[in-house]
Amino acid sequence: KKYKIGYTCGVFDMFHVGHLNLLEKCKSMCDYLIVGVCNDDYVRNIKHKEPVYSEQDRVRILEALKVVDRAELVTIEETNDKILAIEKFHFDVLFSGDDWKGSERYQKTEEQFKKYGAFIVYFPYTQGISTTQIKEKIKK
Ligand code: CTP
Repeated sequence: KKYKIGYTCGVFDMFHVGHLNLLEKCKSMCDYLIVGVCNDDYVRNIKHKEPVYSEQDRVRILEALKVVDRAELVTIEETNDKILAIEKFHFDVLFSGDDWKGSERYQKTEEQFKKYGAFIVYFPYTQGISTTQIKEKIKK
């Protein structure tokens, strides 16, 4: 495969097929996939949402998947600053949603990653499904 250790990070609440599509694409490009799972503090204080599944359950579900080699909770700081994540997990590629591509924050991160010999690969977001959409559907 193109990369050895891959990393992606997200909330992964109410695990759905959009999440699965992303993780399958990640795993197809690396030997070992690490998933950083944003903790409940992040969901509440940064996304201003109440998690449906607890942080422990979100980690357990991810860890049980055959495309995920390791899943671990990450803090607000580790989510916002990918240098903290790379220092912790030593990945050589970060997989991210393409909504971040070209943003100032990710351009800066790409620059900083050069020192580590690491890259960012962007994947398209699966249209028509998200945790928010599922919640809306249930409410109706
Ligand atoms: N993701 C995706 N396609 C979707 C939903 C999520 O590719 N339809 C990806 C995101 O780009 C991110 C990861 O899955 O890299 C985790 O996303 P998360 O924020 O947990 O999922 P959402 O379902 O988008 O959650 P919300 O609606 O609460 O924002």
